[in-house]
Amino acid sequence: MKDVLVVYKSRYGATERYAKWIAEALGCEALPLKQVTTAVLLKYRMLIFGGGLYMGRINGVAALTRRFQELKDKTLFVFTAGLTEPEDDGYYTFLYTRNFTEKMRKQIHFFAFPGAVDGQKLGRFHRWMMGMVMKERARKDPENARAYLEMKMDFTDPRYIEPLVGKARGILQEWDEKRRRQEEIRRQADQEPDTEG
Ligand SMILES: Cc1cc2nc3c(=O)[nH]c(=O)nc-3n(C[C@H](O)[C@H](O)[C@H](O)COP(=O)(O)O)c2cc1C
Repeated sequence: MKDVLVVYKSRYGATERYAKWIAEALGCEALPLKQVTTAVLLKYRMLIFGGGLYMGRINGVAALTRRFQELKDKTLFVFTAGLTEPEDDGYYTFLYTRNFTEKMRKQIHFFAFPGAVDGQKLGRFHRWMMGMVMKERARKDPENARAYLEMKMDFTDPRYIEPLVGKARGILQEWDEKRRRQEEIRRQADQEPDTEG
């Protein structure tokens, strides 16, 4: 079985950037969700899933929650890209309880990263929705009103992945260590003189 795979669903590219940074840091592949089947997921011990936030939902996360029974022995990470400040604990607690059952929450390591938005790239419906949110933000924060109203912001940065990568690396190193110990035991057993018969 292989160790780790990053899977992501990204509409406008922010989640994809994070997925690729994480994969690069861990030396593994990052695949878009549409290319991934259950058979592929089952080949890995650790799965890191990323999805953008849309109206309080993690885009694509159903692909994970729907298969939760089959993935129950996997080490699971979920990360999101969104425009709600990661410091907003209340929002992320709401998000976490809304998207996962209690059982899932016990198994998932969850991380929230700052996202991006570019009004020019948004589809019509999304632009209209974001327009309403951004008008409200501009009203509350007049100093930055222009950036909000232009809907052009990019808060993505590779340094945000560090806690996730650190946690994943720790687990991967434990597995390596365990494999090395088992290999050592096997080697010693092979070298023992055969006393029987
Ligand atoms: C229609 C729409 C709804 C959104 N809803 C949320 C939301 O509920 N919470 C949030 O933090 N960000 C929200 N965002 C911001 C996105 O999560 C952000 O742009 C993110 O970077 C998108 O990632 P992606 O481009 O990889 O899909 C929304 C953006 C759009 C366009």
